[in-house]
Amino acid sequence: MPETSIPQKLRIGMIGLGGIATRSHLPALAALPDVVIQAGAEIDAYQAARTQQRFGIPKIYADYRALIEQEPLDAVYVCLPNALHHEAASAALQRGLHVYCEKPVGLCPQEAQDLAEQAENAGLVLMPGYHLRFHEHFLRARELMRQRRLGKILQIQASAIYSGPYRGWDPKSDWHFDPRSGGPLYDWGSHLIDLLVYITGLEIETVAVEAQKSLPGLPLQDNIAATFQARNCIVGTLNIAWGGRGNLLMLQIHGTSGSLLVSDEYYEHRTPQGGGLNKLGTLLGNAREILTQKAGAFIRHKSSDTIYLKAAQCFIAAIQGKAQIQPAMWDAVHVHQVLTAIAASLEQNRPISTGMLSVNMERACA
Ligand SMILES: NC(=O)c1ccc[n+]([C@@H]2O[C@H](COP(=O)([O-])OP(=O)(O)OC[C@H]3O[C@@H](n4cnc5c(N)ncnc54)[C@H](O)[C@@H]3O)[C@@H](O)[C@H]2O)c1
Repeated sequence: MPETSIPQKLRIGMIGLGGIATRSHLPALAALPDVVIQAGAEIDAYQAARTQQRFGIPKIYADYRALIEQEPLDAVYVCLPNALHHEAASAALQRGLHVYCEKPVGLCPQEAQDLAEQAENAGLVLMPGYHLRFHEHFLRARELMRQRRLGKILQIQASAIYSGPYRGWDPKSDWHFDPRSGGPLYDWGSHLIDLLVYITGLEIETVAVEAQKSLPGLPLQDNIAATFQARNCIVGTLNIAWGGRGNLLMLQIHGTSGSLLVSDEYYEHRTPQGGGLNKLGTLLGNAREILTQKAGAFIRHKSSDTIYLKAAQCFIAAIQGKAQIQPAMWDAVHVHQVLTAIAASLEQNRPISTGMLSVNMERACA
């Protein structure tokens, strides 16, 4: 069993050395002085060798169970295909390790809840990989909502339209088209729902979904439009797809005093008082940020790197007892409840109340 006291440098095991691990988490962790990558696990020998050389990881196991059992570790990052998240995170928690689990945390509400309960009972940190919460725009949006600057909220339009695997994202293994992984709904839809709930605090009560298939080879409906009803008479839409090319995640929140348009590249707070000068200020502010991001990407310091770094700092600080984890592990359960309601509405072709989920959750994990 790992030691109970926290050593000076936290020893991390990286499980799954594919796209997200090598592009985001390993570079972010390399920037932290109080962390060492102790070992990794990767089933693909070529990817293992490449990553070992690039990041100087002392040892790579083909089997992540061997990594968890044999290495002296404090924590693991689970960066495996979605269908393996629960199994790997659970094995690590049972071994007394803290876990950063990529999204979605498990495949269904029960899997997420089981992990949250295991972590809570063992006094371990389980952090869901909803790193977009650390983006400055979404933090600003949350603060604006907290101050009730939009008045009474009427409607929300939330969209995540991406080009999906192989066109917009280059995964190192072929799991995205496995129907168990949930397609775009569980990929970008999980981020979208997490952000929506994080920023607005709303509780989604009912969803009704229309969807089509658009991607050849994907055995799931991937072009999804859902309407939802939330507490306090708020209505809204969720649009999620992998077939687009715009690569946009945007929330538009409309209230009786104004509207907020927010994405990772754009931020606009529209009010009736907002005249020409205000609009010019918004345009200049967004233009400055886009230029800063482009220049940053040019010198290899992208804003996305910064949010992975902030997520890693939060995880490490929570292990050291210096901060609360953000997002909280129970938030991942709620994301799954909404995802399950959408999936059930798709299957049953009728509106689904999130309160009825106990009926549908069994099947979601089957
Ligand atoms: N937070 C985000 O924005 C974000 C972005 C991209 C991916 N992700 C998540 O990260 C996870 C991985 O996605 P990815 O794009 O990196 O996929 P990927 O295919 O590039 O990486 C997964 C890696 O796991 C390895 N692997 C598979 N089975 C294994 C096993 N049994 N033991 C050891 N290694 C194994 C694969 O060979 C591959 O290298 C997914 O859950 C995805 O949803 C999150």
